[in-house]
Amino acid sequence: MSRKSILVVDDEKSQREILEMILSGEGYDVTTASSGEAAMKFVEKRHFDLVLTDLKMTGMSGLDLLKELTDYDKSIIVVLLTAHGSVDSAVDALRLGAFDYLQKPYDSEKLLDTISRALQKLDTLDVEIISESAEMDKVKKMILKVAKSNSTVLIRGESGTGKELIARAIHKNSPRSNNIFQAVNCAAINENLLESELFGHEKGSFTGAVADKKGLFEIADGGTLFLDEIGELDISLQAKILRALQEKQIRRVGGTKEIEVDVRVVTATNRDLLKMTEDGRFREDLYYRLNVLAIDVPPLRDRATDVPLLMNYFIRKHTRNTKREIKIEKDAEKVLLEYGYPGNVRQLESAVERAILLCENDTITREDLPPEMLQQNGTGGSEVFKLPPGGVNFEDVEKSLITQAMERTDNNITRSAKLLGLTFRTLQYRLEKYGIKRESDGSDNESDEDE
Ligand SMILES: Nc1ncnc2c1ncn2[C@@H]1O[C@H](COP(=O)(O)OP(=O)(O)OP(=O)(O)O)[C@@H](O)[C@H]1O
Ligand SMILES: [Mg+2]
Repeated sequence: MSRKSILVVDDEKSQREILEMILSGEGYDVTTASSGEAAMKFVEKRHFDLVLTDLKMTGMSGLDLLKELTDYDKSIIVVLLTAHGSVDSAVDALRLGAFDYLQKPYDSEKLLDTISRALQKLDTLDVEIISESAEMDKVKKMILKVAKSNSTVLIRGESGTGKELIARAIHKNSPRSNNIFQAVNCAAINENLLESELFGHEKGSFTGAVADKKGLFEIADGGTLFLDEIGELDISLQAKILRALQEKQIRRVGGTKEIEVDVRVVTATNRDLLKMTEDGRFREDLYYRLNVLAIDVPPLRDRATDVPLLMNYFIRKHTRNTKREIKIEKDAEKVLLEYGYPGNVRQLESAVERAILLCENDTITREDLPPEMLQQNGTGGSEVFKLPPGGVNFEDVEKSLITQAMERTDNNITRSAKLLGLTFRTLQYRLEKYGIKRESDGSDNESDEDE
């Protein structure tokens, strides 16, 4: 984490100097102000992680400052210094949202301990994102970083990886957390309705518009608007969203006046937006605007260390209001831990939930797990496909799998053959049969063949 910034407020010069010395000695980035009024001026100019203020000052008191600060930015942590005997006001301060108070004379160790406890609060997320993998640590760090800004965020990841949870975490950890978090799924509503949902409409602007209606941008004013599945947004609406992001103004359907909105927009998609821009299905300008702050959520199969943790978490979550103590038999646990989870965390959660419902004697066995999980495990890890009701064109499936394997391995025949469970020669034969050309022909050395 970056160096934390502290604003020290005291009307006594010697006090400011001592505090500055102690705190900068610990590596904090310290600024001092000689009054509450001066402190507010600093706060309006830049962000501070923590404000350490004296309680009794001429002019604005520490309590007044606390009130102004929490009105201005809910994420600032406030610690008060009180003279001996003013514990009552200190308790008031806690009620008003101060993190803690210290009585003077304080010793510097106690002071530093309080400050460090207060700042730790900043680094802990206020939404339960269960993980211990390095991959998710990176994601959590990004969440805390972007939460402080007002920029638009794009969350990318496969279905069920936790994109919405992350959007909520961004909001919860942002200065807007006391205002509304409004989610809208762009795929669930048709284009015309969605425009009026987002931007509102004026009475009579279309059949059915019987009264003026506020849109979600107006409703989320001061808060966060989560545009889920942004890749499904119709191209004409993309232009309107871009305009709202750029101008911070919207116009209701059928309206003429511009309405100012203060909304932080967070978006999510499981699509490859860059590819969509190449195909002309997603506006390039909107893509680049969204892509400035992007968070990539790794699929569950790429963070295996999170699986046992999530498994136990979901067991607790789904038995929370019961007295049940669920156990898992070893071979059922093995299946859960080794499965590939194409549906990611959501699939793990529903498997656990289902098993808790089905299991007898509070013990989860293999039989309580969904069949698709057992199939994969039972056939030595090779993919098992469900034959669709209408059947398939077998050669197309084969060709597509081979192409995917070659893409994934950068046209390495040996590794592709391994992925497909074929021998080098068999794969080579099929590549020729289907006319799938390797770009780097000849570079795949036959000597690393392990037949
Ligand atoms: N790290 C995690 N810790 C705890 N719960 C999680 C975690 N990741 C996901 N979940 C849970 O898994 C479920 C799916 O997550 P979420 O809805 O956020 O995924 P998503 O990426 O938005 O999926 P989709 O693309 O299908 O909309 C939710 O119930 C969520 O609470
Ligand atoms: Mg979602």
